Amino acid sequence: MNKKISLMNQYVADLAVLNVKFHNLHWNVVGERFVPVHVYLEEQYDALFEQFDEVAERLKMLGEYPLASMKAYLEATKVSELDNKDYSIAEAFSVVKEEYTKLKALATEIRHLADDEGDFVTVAVMEDMVAEYDKQLWFIAQSFKK
Ligand SMILES: [Fe+2]
Repeated sequence: MNKKISLMNQYVADLAVLNVKFHNLHWNVVGERFVPVHVYLEEQYDALFEQFDEVAERLKMLGEYPLASMKAYLEATKVSELDNKDYSIAEAFSVVKEEYTKLKALATEIRHLADDEGDFVTVAVMEDMVAEYDKQLWFIAQSFKK
C-alpha cells in the first residue's frame, strides 16, 4: 500500500485510541486545579475526535477505506494506553505533550508525502492539524514555564 495511505490509516487509529486515552486522563486526573484541567482534556478529546473523522473522510475522498473497527485500530496504532488510576496534573500534561509531539511528527510526514504527490488538499488538512498541535504544545510550555 502507498505509504501516505498507510500512515493516514495509522493516524486514524492513533486518534481513535487517543480519544479513549484522553478520556482516561479527563476522568482520573487529580489535584488542586482539577476542574480546569478536566475541562481542558475534554476540549482536547473533542478536537481529536473531529480530526479522527476528518482524516477518515479524507481517505474516503482518496478512494480508500479508512480503518473502521476497534480491532483494526489496536492493530495499527502506535499509541500505548494507560492504566485506569490517578494521574497528577503534571503527569497528565506530560502525556498530552508527548502525544501531541508524536501526532505533529506523523501529520508532518503525511503532509510531505502528500506534497510529493501533488495532493494539496491532504497537505492543507495536515497543515491545519500541525498548526493546532503547535498551539497546544505552546500552551503546555507556557503553563509549565517557571
Ligand atoms: Fe466528561
